[in-house]
Amino acid sequence: MKILVATEKPFAAAAVNGIKEIAAASGHEVALLEKYTEKEQLLAAVADADAMIVRSDKVTAEVIAAAPKLKIVVRAGAGYDNLDLAACTERGIVAMNTPGQNANAVAELALALMIFMSRNQFNPGTGSEISGKRLGIQAYGNVGRLVAEKAKALGLSVTAFDPFVPAERMQEDGVVPAESLEKMYSECDFISLHIPATPQTIASIGYDLISRMPKGGCLLNTARKEVINEAELVKVLEDRPDIKYVADVAPACQQELSEKFGRQVFATPKKMGAETAEANINAGIAAARQIAAYFSAGCTKFQLNK
Ligand code: 3PG
Repeated sequence: MKILVATEKPFAAAAVNGIKEIAAASGHEVALLEKYTEKEQLLAAVADADAMIVRSDKVTAEVIAAAPKLKIVVRAGAGYDNLDLAACTERGIVAMNTPGQNANAVAELALALMIFMSRNQFNPGTGSEISGKRLGIQAYGNVGRLVAEKAKALGLSVTAFDPFVPAERMQEDGVVPAESLEKMYSECDFISLHIPATPQTIASIGYDLISRMPKGGCLLNTARKEVINEAELVKVLEDRPDIKYVADVAPACQQELSEKFGRQVFATPKKMGAETAEANINAGIAAARQIAAYFSAGCTKFQLNK
């Protein structure tokens, strides 16, 4: 079978080598499409692919239609808002992600951004320490848990809100379950977002929540830019010059934000949460193993469109 690795943002070389080794050991071949700039390049590359590994690359209905042999697509990572699951299902294509594999890299970045913002983005001037501050984690999944663990080790008190995770699970980790999202925002110096982009969450973080943050509050977004209501974010930053917003990756209105608000905001130019060799290796190799197991044994663990 032919496995296409289509990554506009390429994996580290070690991850690609690992994918090739797993494919070869299972009798499959690998085709690489890296750093592509045009959709047409992807459409041409999928024409003879039986399987596909992607990162945030968009696997749309058009891509699926251009891939007549495609049987499985694996998003090497957690968020799968880039996959058209309905189009996959309609064609009988199995879609998977690799949950948890790049979580540590994203959690480390969240902590790094917290310190970066507390120290004036490493510019001269008096900053503040994160030890002793209160952190609220919105969504207690693989990334949220790791952020909690690391933040506790750095001396922060941690609370979390997640309607899908039992309170006892958080308490086991020494994390206080938040009574409500509103209360968490009003009581935390930092809020770290770890929600996926879904119809329910898109544009769900806006004026009402952010403006509840205490003086000097900092909202961290290493999830998806789409979960922020950008117009309302601009309004909060205008009304509350003490509040900071830091994001991986830049919102659509980033130019306006940096012109109007300077160091009140910071955004990475390209999503870099999972940009570590370790995360690439973990997620890329997991994706290759999942494809090999699907072809050899029909294994559908991690299938998203069951
Ligand atoms: C994810 O959802 O796994 C992360 O956002 C990483 O995305 P990336 O592979 O495009 O860096």
